[in-house]
Amino acid sequence: MTIRLAGILIGLAFTAVLLLWSLVPGVLNFSLPEEAEYEAFYEPNVAPEGGFSFEGPLGKWDNQQLQRGYQVYKEVCAACHGLKYVAFRNLGELGYNEAEVRALAAEWQIGDIDAKDGSDIERAGLPTDMFPEPYANVVEARAFNNNAVPPDLSLMAKARPDGTHYIYSLMIGYTEPDPEDQAESPEFETPSGLYFNEHFHNINIAMPPPLTDGVVSYSDGTEATTEQMAQDIAAFLTWTAEPQLVKRKQMGWFIIIFLIFATGLAYLSKKQVWADKKKK
Ligand code: HEC
Repeated sequence: MTIRLAGILIGLAFTAVLLLWSLVPGVLNFSLPEEAEYEAFYEPNVAPEGGFSFEGPLGKWDNQQLQRGYQVYKEVCAACHGLKYVAFRNLGELGYNEAEVRALAAEWQIGDIDAKDGSDIERAGLPTDMFPEPYANVVEARAFNNNAVPPDLSLMAKARPDGTHYIYSLMIGYTEPDPEDQAESPEFETPSGLYFNEHFHNINIAMPPPLTDGVVSYSDGTEATTEQMAQDIAAFLTWTAEPQLVKRKQMGWFIIIFLIFATGLAYLSKKQVWADKKKK
């Protein structure tokens, strides 16, 4: 009897921990803490007020927001960052129809080879093309960016811990060093060609502040504040890194419900199998 009770309690405890872990974000965090060189200047990631629509167990993409994020990528980030694992046809998932996807693809220039004479040409993009690289190679990338290489952004939201919030925080992290921290580390400075960013682990980043109020003018009429664009690009890059995120969560619910059902069945069949033994 006590063994059975202990078994049930242990089982319940496991279930409770798993439920907490999957439903409450950040309750259990297994990633290693990272130390910044000038720890005092570093600020942990922040989340926008109200969070993102795709967060939480019932999260859903906000297509309007993803389309705005695409616009920010195209008009700002694409000058320096590639998106090489994403194809134009994938934009169909953001709620554009086929004709719109064709038109969006055609706005990009793609390097290709002339089928007749083999010479290098540029042609309008097709839905089947991947997003083009901004630089010919790493040497050119370094030459334009103070010797730093702007990383590809396709999987960035997965490549950094808490990636969605990290991208959002990085975008709004271009502040001035806190005078108190500066007084404590008087030797700290931001070399010319780098920029202070309190959410970047190295504190000084080679990327100039990409977003300023009104740098894009949204086609859906939303006011393009830095805050708004930071949210939209973070959402868009979460989608590029994990387009299946919402489907994965829905599948999770399906499996939980199925497991509850299967547990009920197992319990009933156990009762059935042991029914005559119990009676004696
Ligand atoms: C003028 C070029 C330029 C533009 C425009 C630009 N970036 Fe960058 N970005 C860089 C460079 C250079 C780095 C590498 C910085 C470093 O390693 O110090 C970088 C790094 C990053 C990183 C990685 C930071 C890390 O943790 O390593 C992210 C994320 C990023 N950029 C996002 C964006 C987004 C989003 C946009 C558009 C809103 C954008 N960038 C626009 C040049 C640019």
